[in-house]
Amino acid sequence: MEYNSLFLSRTSFGDPRNLGKILTREEAKMLLDDWVKNEKLKVHMKQVGHLMKVFATLKGFDDLTVQKWYLAGLLHDADWDQWPEQHCKRIIGELEAREIDPEVIRAIASHGPRYFGVEPEHEIDKMLYAFDELSGFVHAYSLMRPEGYTGMEVKGVKKRLKDKTFAAQVSREDIADASSRAGIPVEELIQFVISNQGAADLG
Ligand SMILES: [Fe+2]
Ligand SMILES: [Fe+2]
Repeated sequence: MEYNSLFLSRTSFGDPRNLGKILTREEAKMLLDDWVKNEKLKVHMKQVGHLMKVFATLKGFDDLTVQKWYLAGLLHDADWDQWPEQHCKRIIGELEAREIDPEVIRAIASHGPRYFGVEPEHEIDKMLYAFDELSGFVHAYSLMRPEGYTGMEVKGVKKRLKDKTFAAQVSREDIADASSRAGIPVEELIQFVISNQGAADLG
């Protein structure tokens, strides 16, 4: 795949008139089940959705905002399974057609600035970018530990990050870039994922 073949080549997403319009949990789950057949990818999306939800809740955001954060996390890779060459153009188009809140769409559009050519601007954008790769990485680490998340330490995760052969597809560069853009040290992000990811509802 060409490096910049996924570039979205635009910076405006959705319609401001749709602010506050989100999918219900049932609608989001239907979309997910419809589009994503790969169970591993589903787990990833649910985990990122969960991290986004917990982070927004701890920030004290209102219910609607928490739901927006959750939705952005839950649906960010919805088109990756069936249309990888159209990632994340397809899910953006779908959410625009369904007249969903532009802030949710923008967050999804900027979850990989190197790939989509859209800069994370708002906090929701930056945190989705920050959690995306790290979530998958910590999950991979949990699967190789007999105790899973129990007793997992930041230094254990950092050691694996230095080992380039472990979860080699996870971009260390993106993890570092996302952490600096979010203004949160990578150790803190790792601790947040360790503390919260195990409780994600994967049903
Ligand atoms: Fe993605
Ligand atoms: Fe992802």
